Amino acid sequence: MGLSSWGKFIDSKTNNPFIFAIQIFKEMYRSHTCGELNDSHIGQTVTIAGWTQTIRDKGNIIWVDVRDRYGITQVVGESGRVSEDILNSLKGLGREFVIQIKGEVVERHSKNPDIPTGNIEIVASEVTVLNKSEVPPFTIEDNTDGGEELRLQYRYLDLRRKPVQDKLRLRHKVSVETHKYFDSIDFMEVETPYLIKSTPEGARDFVVPSRMNPGEFYALPQSPQTFKQLLMVSGYDRYYQIVKCFRDEDLRADRQPEFTQIDCEMAFVDQEDILNTFEGLVKHLFKECRGVDFLEDFPRITYSEAMERFGSDKPDVRFEMEFVNLNDVAKGKGFGVFDNSELVLAINAKQCAGYTRKQLDKLVDWVKRPQIGALGMIYCKCNEDGTFKSSVDKFFSQEDLAQWAEAAGAEKDDLLLVLSGETDKVRSQMNELRLHMGDELGLRNPNEFAPLWVVDFPLLEWDEETERYHAMHHPFTSPKAEDFDLIKTDPGKVRANAYDLAMNGVELGGGSIRIHDKDLQARMFELLGFSDEEAEKQFGFLMNAFEYGAPPHGGIAFGFDRLVATMGGSESIRDYIAFPKNNSGRDVMIDSPATLNEKQLAELSIKTAIKQD
Ligand code: AMO
Repeated sequence: MGLSSWGKFIDSKTNNPFIFAIQIFKEMYRSHTCGELNDSHIGQTVTIAGWTQTIRDKGNIIWVDVRDRYGITQVVGESGRVSEDILNSLKGLGREFVIQIKGEVVERHSKNPDIPTGNIEIVASEVTVLNKSEVPPFTIEDNTDGGEELRLQYRYLDLRRKPVQDKLRLRHKVSVETHKYFDSIDFMEVETPYLIKSTPEGARDFVVPSRMNPGEFYALPQSPQTFKQLLMVSGYDRYYQIVKCFRDEDLRADRQPEFTQIDCEMAFVDQEDILNTFEGLVKHLFKECRGVDFLEDFPRITYSEAMERFGSDKPDVRFEMEFVNLNDVAKGKGFGVFDNSELVLAINAKQCAGYTRKQLDKLVDWVKRPQIGALGMIYCKCNEDGTFKSSVDKFFSQEDLAQWAEAAGAEKDDLLLVLSGETDKVRSQMNELRLHMGDELGLRNPNEFAPLWVVDFPLLEWDEETERYHAMHHPFTSPKAEDFDLIKTDPGKVRANAYDLAMNGVELGGGSIRIHDKDLQARMFELLGFSDEEAEKQFGFLMNAFEYGAPPHGGIAFGFDRLVATMGGSESIRDYIAFPKNNSGRDVMIDSPATLNEKQLAELSIKTAIKQD
């Protein structure tokens, strides 16, 4: 018997599904996987192959759990039922040995309802050790005893664990469904090069020296941005690519130096077409890969509203706790901290008036951590008896506090948390506090998904360091026609045809309608402080291409790792990448990055300030 596989294809022309079955090949080592045997196989003689997960040796009876990618099957040897040789072979096994077992499938005495093979076991008649194993540095079980760094070092062992395999399986499924969705609506996947020239996406480039062109370097793409725009000029009006991108930036749970995008571009479209097409993709993926049906259109919110209500351009809208502006009711009462602040902001933690002094002090310490940077936090409890208790009772009467409560829609038993300061800073600090409270109160359910389009991003942002405007998205993003006149007078106010898809507090994707007009693009470069020569050097190829008929176009890119991690209910993308880097950007398994030897450096015409091997 060989393994067979069943599949379902959708014909993209007729939309008809058709089922196919392939007898893949006659397997040499096994008749069945470790995940497929059940009651229906009782009485059959089968062969399985896999890794020894656990061995329970009770003297005259021994059980061995054999694991492969498909599951775990229990093998049994008992004196009287199997030969002494077999019993000894089973006793000689060690953890993670690669073994092949032949035997009869029988009904188990004590069944395990938690696994699909839990009703049966195999009585071993042949035991072959295909390979031995060292004792692994951590247990290869669902709940392992290995710390993260150790597991990354031995990632190939960590990948044997079911929870990790489940994550990669989800990733695979999302990839397959992405291809299916795009194929069904006439998108073409086109590959673009990795050895390119620097692309302006805001991060630093990873560079690759060119041996054949001494002293010159390729840059690895931060995204295929310019190439997909060139493809629009070439007429490939529906492009996508699941593609690696490289960015040399500080790492976080949702950032890796190399990550994957679902990169997309369309021609002859406006913003509405783009949002609808890619909302369709996200709905399709959640339905097929997660069984979640989004019946409503995704809500939309402008960037400025998102900042005002949540202090974030990727708000987590699974829970409320929206910002309340207390300026009108909290300033001018003699409390200097508020009076000297641009903005006094509150959030209402429902039914939290019972927070103890200790809990509140802990929150104050939390907002004062350097990562958050608040100078302090004021609270106001709305007591059961209708009175209020705040940390600034000296300055605010009961009537004043009642006004705070009213502004915040607070009821008895609610707790107001108040921060103040300069507008942007206080919004960002309050965003962190809101998310922290959301976590603390269990309001961020990983199995709930709250998508949200954030639209009308500013075109430019002011950079204090260089004292000039930078493109918030990238220099090819088009300004909103109605804000056009502001470009000269008040550039910071110009809104862009740019949008992000946020979900559960994560930026899943972002894109824009591009500038396809050469003159406008030249003005944009001027505004961004590029000289003609700089613009020509960096983007001359794109500008030239635009001389030959660039259609109106726009696109978006999704962070594939973030999308899959969010679907899986995790904030860390690392778990969803087979071979990720650690927080210092190192691959601790292959020990990279590493130094080069003198010969390699000489070939590349490179001298380094740090001594190499
Ligand atoms: P952007 O820079 O917004 O847009 O990137 C698109 C999406 O990629 C994901 N992402 C990352 N994921 C993991 N690690 C990283 N270091 C990382 N950086 C970004 C995010 C983000 O939303 N070319 C434009 C898209 C366009 O305009 O069409 C671009 O790359 O989920």
